[in-house]
Amino acid sequence: MTQQIDYSEKIPNNVNLAGDRRLQRALENWQPRFADWWLEMGPVGFQDNEIYLRTAVDVGREGWAHFSHVKLPDYRWGIFLSEPEEDRRIGFGEMKGEPVWQEVPGEFRTDLRRLIVVQGDTEPASVEQQRYLGKTAPSLYDLRNLFQINVEEGRHLWAMVYLLHAHFGRDGREEADALLQRNSGDPDHPRILGAFNEKTSDWLSFLLFTYFTDRDGKYQLGALKESAFDPLSRTCDFMLKEEAHHMFVGASGIARVIQRTCEVMKEYDTDDVRRYGAIDLPTLQKYINFHFSVSLDLFGSETSTNAANYYSAGLKGRFAEPSYEDDHVLVNDEDAISEIVDGRWLETSRPKITVVNEQLRRSYIEDCAKGMRRWNRILEEHGIQYRLDLPNEAFHRQVGIYRDAYVAPSGEILSESDWESSESNFLPTDSDRDFVISLMQPVYSPGQMASWIAPPVSGIHTQPIDYEYVRL
Ligand SMILES: [Fe+2]
Ligand SMILES: [Fe+2]
Repeated sequence: MTQQIDYSEKIPNNVNLAGDRRLQRALENWQPRFADWWLEMGPVGFQDNEIYLRTAVDVGREGWAHFSHVKLPDYRWGIFLSEPEEDRRIGFGEMKGEPVWQEVPGEFRTDLRRLIVVQGDTEPASVEQQRYLGKTAPSLYDLRNLFQINVEEGRHLWAMVYLLHAHFGRDGREEADALLQRNSGDPDHPRILGAFNEKTSDWLSFLLFTYFTDRDGKYQLGALKESAFDPLSRTCDFMLKEEAHHMFVGASGIARVIQRTCEVMKEYDTDDVRRYGAIDLPTLQKYINFHFSVSLDLFGSETSTNAANYYSAGLKGRFAEPSYEDDHVLVNDEDAISEIVDGRWLETSRPKITVVNEQLRRSYIEDCAKGMRRWNRILEEHGIQYRLDLPNEAFHRQVGIYRDAYVAPSGEILSESDWESSESNFLPTDSDRDFVISLMQPVYSPGQMASWIAPPVSGIHTQPIDYEYVRL
């Protein structure tokens, strides 16, 4: 049984931290460094304002969250693991069927530490990427959602740091320190993954980041939740609960952008909505193309020996591993991937275990497509012909087998010169970005919205839309 979360402790937790003095001291030592990082690299401004935030109070199924106004630096970041599953067994790989591990086996120490560090690195990175957005929020409702996501990404950092401290000794502590020393976009000490060094300079990018890139997080956490290393599995399980809200912010946020654009198109009977302060659909499509393609890169190469090794060792599975109708060992199976060979698409068969990254990416793409259908329904309901689409998975890739190919969003293979002449139709141009940034005027009175986004369908928790989500 897990214990209730104890909020009387310095570090709220449900892992009986008080029962391990050394670990408690080590984490209490890390805590002020996290606080310094938050003030230095976290949200710019608003640190003294009261914000209507949810805090985890229980990991159980009913009512795990508590909502109240708190100042950001007073948020109670803590360590919460989902309840253990009794007699849990390894679900895949060479050791399938054996009991899961409560401690790290020596032979997998390096690989597990690497997986935890890479995941951990993305959490503070996104806070850093989003640090200036508070200055241009389209409403108090949105401003609060930004900060909710930021504090929870901070908590996800805590989740990974706990594992490093509790299970990896001295190198774990060093890695935990390094997580605060690398910074998004820092030329000397960048974050580990490319997409986490890009700037999130405007709210359209932020909403698409939460839709596409936080969703990558969902699939990575889902794959780690299957891990034979049980503390990692339980940590990721609880992180996924918090993560769902981040993707909601993206899905509902873009729906509101589309809603607003449709309203303006109808009201003025025009596609040229820019002069009415709304975002035109072709520009939105280009932003989708960008964020989808950089998020696909986060899954790694289509064929990967590392991923195969992680899988056979039981370290990282596929999303919803039990739902796959295969033997979960994958050494005797084949799977086809689409490659570009001599300027043509070609299906090639590979040992299934070498394409687990690709399987994870496929689940992700299907999930992304669901939201696209919902967005298109808004266009349909307004009688608008335009449809948004996910670009082909080979489009604009920097990682994996399509890295050197020039592929249009439609999947058409292009020459380099064709690509160059069409790129401005595929991806946001400087002038598109300038336009979007010109719309980013802060709106800070309760219930009011910026020109480019419709109000949400409902408020947060039990509150109305015009609630004072941030007390300025
Ligand atoms: Fe996260
Ligand atoms: Fe997230």
